[in-house]
Amino acid sequence: MTISNTFPKLWLTLVAIFLFVSLQKVSSSHLLYEEFSNLSPPVIDKTLLPSYHFRPPRNWINDPNGPFFYKGIYHLFYQYNPYGSVWGNIVWAHSVSTDLINWYAVDPAIYPSKPFDIYGCWSGSATVLPGGKPAILYTGIVDNFKTQVQNIAFPANLSDPLLREWIKPDYNPVIASDPSINAVQFRDPTTAWLHPGNKHWNIVIGSTREVGQRGVAVLYRSKDFVNWTKAKHPLHSSKGTGMWECPDFFPVAVGERQGRDTSATGRGVKHVLKVSLDRTRFEYYTLGTYYPARDRYLPDQASVDGSEGLRYDYGNFYASKTFFDPAKRRRVLTGWANESDSVADDVSKGWAGVILIPRELWLDENGRQLLQWPVEEFDRLRRNHISVANQVVNPDTFFRVNGIDTAQADVEVTFEISSLEKAEDFDPSYEGDAQAYCAKNTADVKGEVGPFGLYVLADSTLRERTAVFFKVFKHQRKHVVLFCHDPTRSTKRENIFKPTFAGFVDVDIESTKTISLRSLIDHSVVESFGAGGKTCITSRVYPSLAVGRDARLFVFNNGAVDVKVSELNAWEIRTPLMNRQI
Ligand code: FRU
Repeated sequence: MTISNTFPKLWLTLVAIFLFVSLQKVSSSHLLYEEFSNLSPPVIDKTLLPSYHFRPPRNWINDPNGPFFYKGIYHLFYQYNPYGSVWGNIVWAHSVSTDLINWYAVDPAIYPSKPFDIYGCWSGSATVLPGGKPAILYTGIVDNFKTQVQNIAFPANLSDPLLREWIKPDYNPVIASDPSINAVQFRDPTTAWLHPGNKHWNIVIGSTREVGQRGVAVLYRSKDFVNWTKAKHPLHSSKGTGMWECPDFFPVAVGERQGRDTSATGRGVKHVLKVSLDRTRFEYYTLGTYYPARDRYLPDQASVDGSEGLRYDYGNFYASKTFFDPAKRRRVLTGWANESDSVADDVSKGWAGVILIPRELWLDENGRQLLQWPVEEFDRLRRNHISVANQVVNPDTFFRVNGIDTAQADVEVTFEISSLEKAEDFDPSYEGDAQAYCAKNTADVKGEVGPFGLYVLADSTLRERTAVFFKVFKHQRKHVVLFCHDPTRSTKRENIFKPTFAGFVDVDIESTKTISLRSLIDHSVVESFGAGGKTCITSRVYPSLAVGRDARLFVFNNGAVDVKVSELNAWEIRTPLMNRQI
């Protein structure tokens, strides 16, 4: 703990008192703790502060906003509270990078200052217009938090590659809600795309209808990017799904890893619609077809809307946004992980929230799902390579990966399963609910084929450990693979929320008998990629023993059959330049 020795008791008492006062729900998914949102501790507690995941040195952050590439520089904005470490006072903070890994901070780009955004500058997106001029569309909060409108902002000076200053024209808002729209649930405009027929700009805005709690992607179009008209029908909607926050709509190439510009349509692409469901606090996406002539998007039959659907990440990952990177012709995804400690913890440590490592995202060759992988630039942070090959892990055993004595690591491992014969039958009552299965059957519950995997952020005696593991089952004459994060033993501390997360992995385990895993470990973040990015899970954990140089890495097998580590490569991860102000 680096909280000042003089202040901790007084400080924590204040926090505890304030906890019981003034908790308000505004019309976003965030709770507003009014006094806390202006409270910053005398000293920041850096013990579990992520070191290579993006965040500013102090205070609260949530959604990544409007990422784009301009004149050799990546721009990332994010929802930021400049005065405290809980949600509130939200501005668009702004950082720049040439590699998506090392970041410099510039001044906030957009902050409440005008009647059209006086109660808040909430999420939105950027569009790089033909000719190269970027434009931001964001949600302005007005009318004492009761109305959400959409505003536009442009860079003040296009010859400044850092685009430090942004101008919000007085003709804002460019989109006000009309009586057909639920004005308190109308936010987070997407990047615009050009309609291939009439060449009008199109965007969608997330909303919900009171009746039927239908989640809606309201469609707007414009000839000049300034005057917007609502289309007769939404681009897509789905009943019973509640508010659709932070929608994202973009094309992916069929049969190729290369990304496509957001306006690409027609042959050779499929479309993705992602929404962040306020109800479940998870994100879901569908794969489908965009029909420009009808201004509609239809998910494929196998791709379902709502909480039964596919996720980018089956863990703590929300309010994400993609952008097309023209420099490397790839689509890049950035997401936000919230804390899972208590609000009082966030206030006393002085920081909360983290942006996950930018991931390249593309369509799996089977066309059924997306794949994700950390951007290649990240690998430049690797040092002190450790490797293990052909090591058998017998049932009920584990071994330590020597040389990884750090809470900043990257591990890639391939497991080979000796036999699938003993695989347990999958209990059909968990069909479609991997998370419920893993919550019940944690890493300590002995199985047949698995659980096997890694203990990350473990102390040397394994009193603290976060298990990242696989388990294989028989199910209707096939095999199914489950991928889980089990943080139930991640800390000795009390009052920490330790949710188990899990997803199924769409692999042909019968023919390969191998499965791979990559985990990025960063003090309080564990970000894992199962089977080359088919199933991803992120967790936030708060060890008290496995901190800094006391953190260890183990491989374990709690199943009844041998598993071989055919290859394991691990590196320590260097701290990049993290948001130095320029
Ligand atoms: C998602 C969200 C958005 C909103 C923003 C406010 O986390 O609730 O819908 O624009 O956060 O900070």
